[in-house]
Amino acid sequence: MADPAVPFVSLTAQHQGLAAEIRNAVGRVMESGWFILGPEVEAFEEEFASVVGTAHAVGVASGTDALTLSLWALGVGPGDEVITTPLTATFTALAISRCGARPVFADVDGRSLNLSPESVAKRMTARTKALLPVHLYGNPCQMPALLRLAGENGLAVVEDACQAHGAKLADRPLGGWGKAGCFSFYPTKNLGALGDGGMVATNDAAMANRLRRLRNGGQENRYIHREIGFNSRLDELQAAILRAKLPHLFTWNARRRALAALYGQLLAEAPLVWVDLLPDAETAAHLLVARAPERDRLREALSEAGVETLIHYPVPAHLQPAYQGLGQGVGSCPEAERAAGEILSLPLYPELTEAQVERVARAILEFYR
Ligand SMILES: Cc1ncc(COP(=O)(O)O)c(C=O)c1O
Repeated sequence: MADPAVPFVSLTAQHQGLAAEIRNAVGRVMESGWFILGPEVEAFEEEFASVVGTAHAVGVASGTDALTLSLWALGVGPGDEVITTPLTATFTALAISRCGARPVFADVDGRSLNLSPESVAKRMTARTKALLPVHLYGNPCQMPALLRLAGENGLAVVEDACQAHGAKLADRPLGGWGKAGCFSFYPTKNLGALGDGGMVATNDAAMANRLRRLRNGGQENRYIHREIGFNSRLDELQAAILRAKLPHLFTWNARRRALAALYGQLLAEAPLVWVDLLPDAETAAHLLVARAPERDRLREALSEAGVETLIHYPVPAHLQPAYQGLGQGVGSCPEAERAAGEILSLPLYPELTEAQVERVARAILEFYR
C-alpha cells in the first residue's frame, strides 16, 4: 500500500503539534552538555511515578529491559519459572529468558484476551517464582485475582504495562498494583519517545535502588561495581522529550477512547466481536482490537480501500520458532491460538480524524454486506 488514506499509525501530526516543546527540550539538553543520568531523567522519573502513583520510578533503555531488570532484581534466574501470557509482544517472554528462567505460558480469557487467573493457577509448580501479566491493548488484567493467587503462593507480580500508560482498574493506575510495573516508550506507545526508552515503577525503595544499580553496570559508586549489571539507561534527551509529552497523555488517552467509542457506534451492525473490558476498567485504548469473521479477506479488502490494519499478535509466544525448545506446542493455549487467527487491530491514535474512522467503518460494513 503506497500511501494509505488511513495509516495504521502516524506520529508526524503529533510531533508537529508539539514541535516547539520538543525542540526546546532537545536544545535544553544539548546546551547542558549532560547526556546520561542527569536532571532530566531524575525529573521525568518523579513525574512519571506520580502518574502511576508509586513512590519510585527508574528509567531504563526499553520496555524489554524494564521487564528484564525487574525480574533480575527479584532474583529470578536459572531453574525458575515465570508464568505469562502467550498473546503479547514476544519481548515479554524474552525478558524471562534473558534472566535464565523459563517462560511458562498460561492461556488467556477468551473475552478479554488477557491472562486467565484460572489457567495461571493450573500452570503453577514448585519452581514458579513470579507472575508476569500483560495489560494487553491497554486493557487491565484481573489484578485482584492474580495478586491473590500470587500472595497465597509467595510469588512476586511484575506487570507488563508497556501498552497501558495512564490506564486504571478500580481507579488505581496500572503498573502500581504489583511489585513492579514496566513501561515502554517505544515511539508508537501512548507515551512514546523519539527512540527507545522504558521505566520501572515500584513502591519498594530497596528494589528501586537495586534497579538504579543494575541499569548502570552494577555500580554502587563511580567505577565500583558491586554486582554484574547491565548498561540500560534512559538518556537525558529522551527523558526531556518524554517530559514535554507527558502532560498530554491523559488528553490523548481520552481521545483514543472517544474514537474507539465512535468505531463501536458506527460498526454496531457489523459482525465484529470487540475485546471485552473489565467493568471497572479505564483502558489506555492503545490498540482497538476485534475478532473478525474472514479476518484475512477483510484485511485485504481494507487495504484496497486505503485502510492499514495490523494483527496483535499473529503468532502466540509459545508457538514462536525461538520457543520451540520449551515443548509448549499447538493446543497448549487454545484460546490464545484461536484468537490469533481471528483478531484484527484497527487504526487508533489521537490524531486520527472522525472522517477517517467513518471511512474505515464504511469499508468494513461494505465488506460484510
Ligand atoms: C506488551 C509489551 N511488552 C513489552 C514490549 C517491549 O518494549 P520495548 O520495545 O520498549 O522493549 C512491548 C513493546 O514493544 C509491548 O507491547
